[in-house]
This record gives sequence, structure tokens and C-alpha cells, in this order.
Amino acid sequence: MSAASSLSKNQTEDIDYLQLDRIIEDEFSSDQENLIMILQAIQRHFNYLPRPALLYLSEKIGVPFSKIYGVCTFYSTFSLEPRGRNIISICLGTACHVRGGERVRERIEEILKIGDGQTTEDKRYTLESVRCIGCCSLGPVVKINEDMHGRITSDAVKSTLDQYE
Ligand code: FES
Repeated sequence: MSAASSLSKNQTEDIDYLQLDRIIEDEFSSDQENLIMILQAIQRHFNYLPRPALLYLSEKIGVPFSKIYGVCTFYSTFSLEPRGRNIISICLGTACHVRGGERVRERIEEILKIGDGQTTEDKRYTLESVRCIGCCSLGPVVKINEDMHGRITSDAVKSTLDQYE
């Protein structure tokens, strides 16, 4: 299967090509040396990397689509699937694990009815497990978007999630 055809086919989002031009041309001078930063900027805009945007980028900077796809799949920070408005990162590193991170993860999955790497149907949340986010003394830690929730208990999960529309 080619890289292009293995990307999700149900990405029906309208692509704002003017905004793509602003990113690719104005911010990064259509320079293929800036590929990673361009991908980061596209992901910031769409919250993921839509297939049509990657095809457009490929043409604009003269880099084969297969190479761009390879970069997107190599770095775990890039997502080729639509993600939720709120990204929940549950830390399952050792320090968080021994302090009950697993129970917190189970509670999140139970409330949202999704597993690791999945997005709720209403696109409100995406759940991702991570290995250490650098504040082990606060474990167990859940990061939601840019907010750190340290020493979180499974009982506090629901009210914490409810803060995010
Ligand atoms: S192990 Fe969770 S923040 Fe380090």
C-alpha cells in the first residue's frame, strides 16, 4: 500500500489553502529544509496533519509525499488522524505508575469510553499515554493541553475533565 493510500480516507475537512500558503510560503519560504517546522505549524493549525494538506505541501516544496509521510510517522508528536479539541496525556512512567497512574488511566478510559490513542466521537478529547513528562514528584500526573494536573486521584478525574470544553 502506498503512503498516500494508507492515510485516512475519511478526512473530509475543508482545507484552508490560503492559510497553508501563509505557513509554507510566508513563514517558511517554501524551503524544504524547514519541513519539520512546517509540519509543526500545519498541525498547530488543523490539530493534526490532514492528507490533502500533506499532498499540497509535497508539491509546494518539491519533497516526495512518501518522504513527508515517513517523517510524520517517525515523530510521535505528529498525528495523521483528527484529534480532539483537548489532548489528555496520562503519564505511565515509573514514578507515576507506582503512585497510581494506572488507576487514573482506567478511570479516564471508563468515563470517556476510549482507549489509548483514541478520540471521543464528539472530538472533545483525545487520550494519549506518555512516559514521563518531567514532573515525577507530582505523580501521578495528567497533562491536558498545556495544563499539568499533579497528584491527581481517580476520584478527581471527572471534575478535572469537565473543566475542558
Ligand atoms: S514518571 Fe510521570 S512525570 Fe515522570
